[in-house]
Amino acid sequence: MHPTMRCSIGIGWVWGPPTFFNQSQYSTSWWGAFGLFLMESPYLRFVTILVVLVLLVSLVPSPVFGTPPCDFPAIFNFGDSNSDTGGLSAAFGQAGPPHGESFFRGPAGRYSDGRLVIDFIAESLGLPYLSAYLDAVGSNFTHGANFATAGSTIRPQNTTLHQSGFSPFSLNVQYYQFNDFHRRSQIVRSQGGVFKKLLPRAKYFSQALYAFDIGQNDLTAGYFLNMTTDQVISYIPDVLDQFKTVVKYLYDQGGRSFWIHNTGPFGCLPYVMDRLPIMAGQVDKAGCASPFNEVAQYFNKKLKEAVDRLRMDLPLAALTYVDVYSLKYTLISQPRRYGFVHPLQACCGHGGKYNYNQHIGCGGKITVHGKEVLVGKACADPSVMINWDGVHYTQAANKWVFDRIVDGSFSDPPFPLKMACHRQPPH
Ligand SMILES: *[C@@H]1O[C@H](CO)[C@@H](O)[C@H](O)[C@H]1NC(C)=O
Ligand SMILES: *[C@@H]1O[C@H](CO)[C@@H](O)[C@H](O)[C@H]1NC(C)=O
Ligand SMILES: *[C@@H]1O[C@H](CO)[C@@H](O)[C@H](O)[C@H]1NC(C)=O
Repeated sequence: MHPTMRCSIGIGWVWGPPTFFNQSQYSTSWWGAFGLFLMESPYLRFVTILVVLVLLVSLVPSPVFGTPPCDFPAIFNFGDSNSDTGGLSAAFGQAGPPHGESFFRGPAGRYSDGRLVIDFIAESLGLPYLSAYLDAVGSNFTHGANFATAGSTIRPQNTTLHQSGFSPFSLNVQYYQFNDFHRRSQIVRSQGGVFKKLLPRAKYFSQALYAFDIGQNDLTAGYFLNMTTDQVISYIPDVLDQFKTVVKYLYDQGGRSFWIHNTGPFGCLPYVMDRLPIMAGQVDKAGCASPFNEVAQYFNKKLKEAVDRLRMDLPLAALTYVDVYSLKYTLISQPRRYGFVHPLQACCGHGGKYNYNQHIGCGGKITVHGKEVLVGKACADPSVMINWDGVHYTQAANKWVFDRIVDGSFSDPPFPLKMACHRQPPH
């Protein structure tokens, strides 16, 4: 934990009651009422015992059975480029064309040809796409805010974006921004008028879905500094401690529903395979670099343990761990089965084995005889490609992943997205 973080925890604003979700099923207050009946007659007594038994049986196996969906009124998202809807573009300049071409008909702050998993999550909850907290132009935060930026890590990096490509908006900074947003949005909203139509209600902070997709850059950061796998593994506990700290801070501010994606198989991504040395024996059947995927899986195992730990530490939180790794790896290793081709090649890029060039990215231009020529072009049909620009997924791949996580089959506990406010009973 870093010292600056410690300051903000003391402030700990809590807006709205923390007990927003339906806990009545666990409540004991109405048992007293049954006690009265018990004394009245043997018949009622028999019926009462039956009812109680049926209730108990229905409660034990699954708290989701018979409980209403969550009705999340807002989403607060934290992450990296996998869920950046305009943060880095607002701060450091737009991710230019052909980004966004498949859906937004132009750049929309996303590192993809279209929508991201977080966009599909918002759609399925009936909420508008999230505005980036950093975006001063045209933003509307009535149903949440997005603090994610491309290149973000959980731990603050000691380099600038220009030096290393990692965003200065690491998870702790995203938390400072959330904290500021929480407090100031309510002061400004109380002025009424248009502000009521731009900022969330106070109670939304406890009812919202808090989504996370972050960690991949913490792992690649070490490798790009020429660390060995052992060195990368040795700092993973610190990364996860800082992750847990932020979840606890959000809980202290009233957050109750946490939706946490694990990290993807970054050993299958062109930018990793192109830039980091791998030996022939380290390439798996899918063509991916196994050492990096093994580290991703190790990180995920530890992340899952961190989430288990948080369940114990935060008695009112519903935490869902979502295994996007398995889905992304399945898609990359069996593309044809799902209607995709060339899983290891970027759709938008230029040259080399992976249609990826570190120096000339998607939308990149070169100067030939004094004239600018676009070389980082998009492929003809992004809807059959998995990788967009060597680093990020296409809209089609994001949709494919979303369609498989929404029903809870890749979640722990295995509840659908719309049930993610319900806490699983303790094992
Ligand atoms: C940055 O530097 C500080 C102080 O030396 C160190 O504690 C921290 O671990 C470094 N962060 C990373 C990501 O290496
Ligand atoms: C912001 O979005 C909400 C929900 O879509 C909408 O009701 C509201 O009118 C919007 N605010 C403005 C100022 O347009
Ligand atoms: C990592 O190693 C490569 C190859 O030896 C070198 O070019 C590069 O500068 C090194 N990077 C860092 C951050 O030390």
